[in-house]
Amino acid sequence: MDKSTFEEQTTIAGPMHTRLRHDSAHKHVAGTADYIDDMPEPVGTLHGALGLTDRAHAEILEMDLSAVAALPGVVCVLTASDMPHSNDISPSHLHDEPVLAEGRVQFHGQPAFAVIAETRDIARRAARLAKITYRDLPLLLDVTDAMAQGGELVTQPLTLQRGDAEGELERAPRRLKGRMRIGGQEHFYLEGHIALAIPGEDDEMTVWSSTQHPSEIQHMVAHVLGVPSNAVTVNVRRMGGGFGGKETQGNQFAALAAVAARKLRRAVKFRPDRDDDMMATGKRHDFLVDYDIGFDDEGRIHAVHANYAARCGYSSDLSGPVTDRALFHADSSYFYPHVKLTSQPLKTNTVSNTAYRGFGGPQGMVGAERMIEEIAYALGKDPLEIRKLNFYGEKGSGRDITPYHQKIEDNIIHRIVGELEVNADYQARRTAIVDFNKSSRVIRKGIALTPVKFGISFTMTAFNQAGALVHIYQDGSLHLNHGGTEMGQGLYTKVAQVLGDSFQIDIDRVKITATTTGKVPNTSATAASSGSDLNGMAAFDAARQIKDRLVAFAAERWQTTAEQVTFVANHVKIGEELVPFADFIRQAYTGRVQLSAAGFYKTPKIHWDRATGRGTPFYYFAYGAAVSEVSIDTLTGEYLVDRVDVLHDVGRSLNPAIDLGQIEGGFVQGMGWLTTEELWWDEKGRLRTHAPSTYKIPLASDRPKIFNVRLAEWSENAEKTIGRSKAVGEPPFMLPISVLEALSMAVASIAGYRECPRLDAPATPERILMAIERLRRSHV
Ligand code: MTE
Ligand code: MOS
Repeated sequence: MDKSTFEEQTTIAGPMHTRLRHDSAHKHVAGTADYIDDMPEPVGTLHGALGLTDRAHAEILEMDLSAVAALPGVVCVLTASDMPHSNDISPSHLHDEPVLAEGRVQFHGQPAFAVIAETRDIARRAARLAKITYRDLPLLLDVTDAMAQGGELVTQPLTLQRGDAEGELERAPRRLKGRMRIGGQEHFYLEGHIALAIPGEDDEMTVWSSTQHPSEIQHMVAHVLGVPSNAVTVNVRRMGGGFGGKETQGNQFAALAAVAARKLRRAVKFRPDRDDDMMATGKRHDFLVDYDIGFDDEGRIHAVHANYAARCGYSSDLSGPVTDRALFHADSSYFYPHVKLTSQPLKTNTVSNTAYRGFGGPQGMVGAERMIEEIAYALGKDPLEIRKLNFYGEKGSGRDITPYHQKIEDNIIHRIVGELEVNADYQARRTAIVDFNKSSRVIRKGIALTPVKFGISFTMTAFNQAGALVHIYQDGSLHLNHGGTEMGQGLYTKVAQVLGDSFQIDIDRVKITATTTGKVPNTSATAASSGSDLNGMAAFDAARQIKDRLVAFAAERWQTTAEQVTFVANHVKIGEELVPFADFIRQAYTGRVQLSAAGFYKTPKIHWDRATGRGTPFYYFAYGAAVSEVSIDTLTGEYLVDRVDVLHDVGRSLNPAIDLGQIEGGFVQGMGWLTTEELWWDEKGRLRTHAPSTYKIPLASDRPKIFNVRLAEWSENAEKTIGRSKAVGEPPFMLPISVLEALSMAVASIAGYRECPRLDAPATPERILMAIERLRRSHV
């Protein structure tokens, strides 16, 4: 019988659920994977550079670009007035983000002009020759500044509320208030931003862009040029990392390349160098969390009231959804009987912050885990004990409802944490560490087990849709295209596995092709970890349509029933006859069967009403937990991550090899965020950490010395996702909250664990040392 129904699909063994390597793994290593800068350039390609301003907030009185234009090799200089139709590339409806600054500079490094030259080097040199006269305006650089000056917001704030938080805080046996600063993060994709625009005939424009969101690039380019979307085609084969940094931030480069290409009728490429990329593009939002918690002597939370203020930068960009997602994860895995959470997306004169793995969720979760730590230190207990006491309960327990009124129906956090606690030998190790710390003068150790629960779906319901285009050629080879983009996460491989599985053919018969707006239209960004859920299902739908036609054809040609036709191991089995797949396809072609289909998928069940703060924004949750053990040097503040054990839930893994890679990579990236990656702006609003010399991402030598990562093999998505899998892209990023908390425990040992050290993030060696000094002073 035809295996195209969902239930059967999940039970057959094919290329799905197997440990296939990433389709480009060998090419990444050998240097033969083509990124945009590796593509042969069209004859006469010109190169662009951004003209960056050097004020954070100022009126532009005069721009003298004569020296820029006069440099030999410069072909043209663009300013805001050269935008043919619109100078707007804002991804939000607020239209608050110009391609090039016009009249006013709103952050240090904001591009005010662009240079197009024969070579990239000339363009960059010329960009430095501008003479701009400014009139300085007052600066709001960080959250504290912005709050003190009235707190102008870039977008609507959100409130999530349930029960009577204020009343229950008053009535709770214990009450505690605190504040935590959580730093931002530079994406540090290995391949920086890049766009290559190639003009065609009439108003046509082809753009190769390193983007997670080809459809948005298409819309922005069309909008800036003043042409319909059908004139613009955007392609991307792969990115050298995106991490959210290429969800909206590619707009500027694509728009400028297209404007120049249209004007000059030559191909134009923009590839900013690392410093310009770091200064001119948005980052993870840093947050200031103020919390007020009511609890009892056992450690059970009664009420939480917290505010999440974020440095959004000068424009809205994705700050609305990012600060919303912070609130959606401000519960971490814990049930708050009474709760009120508010967001404060603050406007500042800094680069506009944007998406970054977890999309505000990590900041919300770090705040929640800090609250647990506070309770534990106040009561003199192990934070893990407080965690378990406050975990969401089973479905129907009355302790299963979130601050956004979604019921949690798939809670497996008890099992995940319970298994990890035993397998990582948490209790014995903690006891040994407490013992060790008693007698160790310089080196102190810490250990922590923290959970992850991450909601899967775009909170903007409309984005939860996807399309795919599948062709089978006469020789039985398949061509696969879908709306998702590949940034190293293995999406292309996973979707190819879905196709291989559907037809029960080897994966190497499936050709993975570059994402293009010309084949699958109106796509969502590859973001919110939803790539394989959405595009996998869309490809599955396309395969189903073709299979239905093939089965009907076979039944008729072989004079049998549809039940007698199955796809098995590179063959089609019709009754007792086994026909090789390629032979069968050739016969189907001759029989005039349509061998191409467009698939579509939209996530069921979800809905969200932002105005009331109620709904079911998430289709399901992904879970995980990590135990981290660290050592700190109490004389210098330096530390090592000695051992990490992870148990993570990806449902039925589509590809365990790729999923393990995502977990390891996400962990290390999250660890960098919470430990060494520090963004630092000076008093003039200049980002002083704009290169690897001053901004420290994790090195190979920073990885945990012992790193055990396991998938929860028993887990299966309760929802009908592709192969019952779960999204894996972002959730593991939050596992290293355990590192921050282990550092905290090591510091707390200085004062007998009687005080929560309140480490801000990133917990750099300097911060650790200062926390140690503070505790030493107050507990002599
Ligand atoms: N993994 C790699 N190697 N490179 C990346 O840029 N981006 C992350 C994650 N894993 C990223 C990555 C982010 S922010 C997201 S949202 C998801 O991958 C997006 O892809 P997916 O939806 O296919 O998981
Ligand atoms: Mo990921 S931050 O949703 O691109």
